[in-house]
Amino acid sequence: MKTPARHTVTAALPYANGPLHIGHIAGAYLPADIYVRNLRQRGKEVLFICGSDEHGAAITMRAMKEGTTPQAIVDKYHALMGQAFKDFGIHFDIYDRTSSELHRETSQGFFLKLLENGAFSVQEEQQYFDEEAKQFLADRYIMGTCPKCGNTDAYGDQCEKCGSALSPKDLIEPRSTLSGSKPVLKSTKHWYLKMDEAQQWVEQWMNTGVLDGAQHHDPKEWKASVLGQCNSWLKDGLRPRAMTRDLDWGVPVPLEGAEGKVLYVWLDAPIGYISATKRWAQEHNTDWERWWLSRDSGSEAGMTKEDEPRLVHFIGKDNIVFHAIIFPILLKLHGGYVLPQNVPANEFLNLEGRKISTSRNWAVWLHEYIQRWPDRQDELRYCLATIIPEQKDSEFTWKDFQEKNNSELVSIVGNFVQRVFVLSHKYYEGKAPAAGEKVDMDVALWSSVHGSVEEVAQHIDDFRLRDALSSAMNVARAGNKYLSDNEPWKLEKTDPERTRTILANSLNVAAVLSIVLEPFLPHTTAKLRRMLGIGTLPWDDAFRSDLIGAGQELGKPEHLFKPITDAEIQPEVERLHAAESPAGFQPAGPAEATGLKPVGQSNPNIAFDDFAKLDLRVGTITAAEKVPKADKLLKLTIDLGETTPRTVVSGIAMHYEPEQLPGQQVVLVANLEPRKMRGVESQGMVLMAEDASGKLVFVQPKEMVGPGGEVR
Ligand code: 2FM
Ligand code: ZN
Repeated sequence: MKTPARHTVTAALPYANGPLHIGHIAGAYLPADIYVRNLRQRGKEVLFICGSDEHGAAITMRAMKEGTTPQAIVDKYHALMGQAFKDFGIHFDIYDRTSSELHRETSQGFFLKLLENGAFSVQEEQQYFDEEAKQFLADRYIMGTCPKCGNTDAYGDQCEKCGSALSPKDLIEPRSTLSGSKPVLKSTKHWYLKMDEAQQWVEQWMNTGVLDGAQHHDPKEWKASVLGQCNSWLKDGLRPRAMTRDLDWGVPVPLEGAEGKVLYVWLDAPIGYISATKRWAQEHNTDWERWWLSRDSGSEAGMTKEDEPRLVHFIGKDNIVFHAIIFPILLKLHGGYVLPQNVPANEFLNLEGRKISTSRNWAVWLHEYIQRWPDRQDELRYCLATIIPEQKDSEFTWKDFQEKNNSELVSIVGNFVQRVFVLSHKYYEGKAPAAGEKVDMDVALWSSVHGSVEEVAQHIDDFRLRDALSSAMNVARAGNKYLSDNEPWKLEKTDPERTRTILANSLNVAAVLSIVLEPFLPHTTAKLRRMLGIGTLPWDDAFRSDLIGAGQELGKPEHLFKPITDAEIQPEVERLHAAESPAGFQPAGPAEATGLKPVGQSNPNIAFDDFAKLDLRVGTITAAEKVPKADKLLKLTIDLGETTPRTVVSGIAMHYEPEQLPGQQVVLVANLEPRKMRGVESQGMVLMAEDASGKLVFVQPKEMVGPGGEVR
């Protein structure tokens, strides 16, 4: 499809209830930033919008936990997140917030227009109510078992394990997250969006790209995972969904008789993209409408079909239906707005073999990384860009981060640029030499470089950013190969003219690199441009081979990247384990909504020697009891035939009752560093097997084995 000139790109508004971690970054913000930077290089007009999502139970519950007010929470995290994005080079045009007055006005106005257009049915209904906390329980105020995947910790609005969007009444065995009590049903009135009436056009729009009889987008450009999740939702049939809540934190419903009610956070949050655009436009003394309105409504302002903005939402997979079904319905029922052209959602990022978890503090927090690794933003951007979970869940490990820095950034990009600059200074006193006649090797170099440049843009258009980065790195690889094949350091003495051509070409490859790597490594490419003595160049210049003219003054050779040592990496791994809160071990989750992490695809191979370091033993459980105030933990006593039996704390309380356990044989990692969990020292880890439904069972020998039996 032809790419229009104007792009409205949004990145999910993160809840202002905690700091950002690398999972957020790899899932939505880095991909969006790379995409936007490349569009700008290609001369497109782009507005890149984000901000803090400051309403909803995510905020109020955090305030309760921290013993403070919701306002204090959003103020704290809005500032922290905004700064971290900036420091990391995620360059939004605006980072707004949904607690602003302009947002209140905008979302109330939107609601009233929907009401006027007949988008709602008002229903008095029985809803879950917590009698202890005296509050209706919607969304995250209620938990229970997911009817789709069996996860026992699904929220009332969504199961984070399988990504399904839910309603409280879908939950099996619901419980209040405020008091833990079993909720009762009580009557209340709410405004329901008539989603059922949108079923037909949504299905058609999404799967054929046809909207109101015109081709809107090409569904082949949408990710199969996004279409899959939406179609599975559509197959169940769209049902009316309440757009109001009985809460005191949020945007008040602007109607008489609706006192004590606020707009549903998933109504007001995406409207936040629009109010952020309005604020940006006010600050820049320009119109917001041209970034949002369709040609039908904008035609009065002289807008033509070509002028229509292209709306793209970058999100994680847990936000898919909200952006690809509910928000489009809201936009269409309001009228006048464009609908998203694409919703390139990503899967999840795991960390060192486990799911990232805010509550268990199993995360690499962005602001902390920036503090501990100042001036190493691009190293993390690079590593994360190579593992964006585009097709399936992926994994960050500190070892991989080190490896990618040392063997890719240092050895490929840094090494190439360093060699070119050192030689240019040595032979030509830091002035670029003139290129002579091109020979076959030069022609081959440029054909390879320009072929890679072409691929980068194509992959970015296809939202394949990992491939795009790999193609960009091929430019540096081609440069290195050219140097190694031509060996200018040997040739200088015998053929100075040819040497000049080789280095002139190499400097020009470095200039092309400063363009193609910019979306991924903005800090490094700024440095490289300073070294080359050039400014920011447009994308099309990457197809040239004469960007650095003869006589151009070059900066001093500088190392673009430094190797990372084991001594720098090891403390990171240790810090992660030391900071983990003792809520028990949870293995990394399934790769797709219904499947497990594909075998052999997520963890890199290990050497046999690494495996041999594990001391795996069979032991017999002799006693088991609950750990007080820890829902998921059991304290096990396990006999391995040693003089004193082991005490092991295991996160299996949701799967086994203590009475079932004495006499069971289990496999224990017997040489795991002891660790305190809830004040109990755990001396090993019991191996468990998990299937796609989340069922967890012991790994056991089929026949009885003597105590301490080795597992190999
Ligand atoms: O999942 C989240 O973090 C939500 N706060 C995303 C909202 S995106 C948009 F709709 F604002
Ligand atoms: Zn589920």
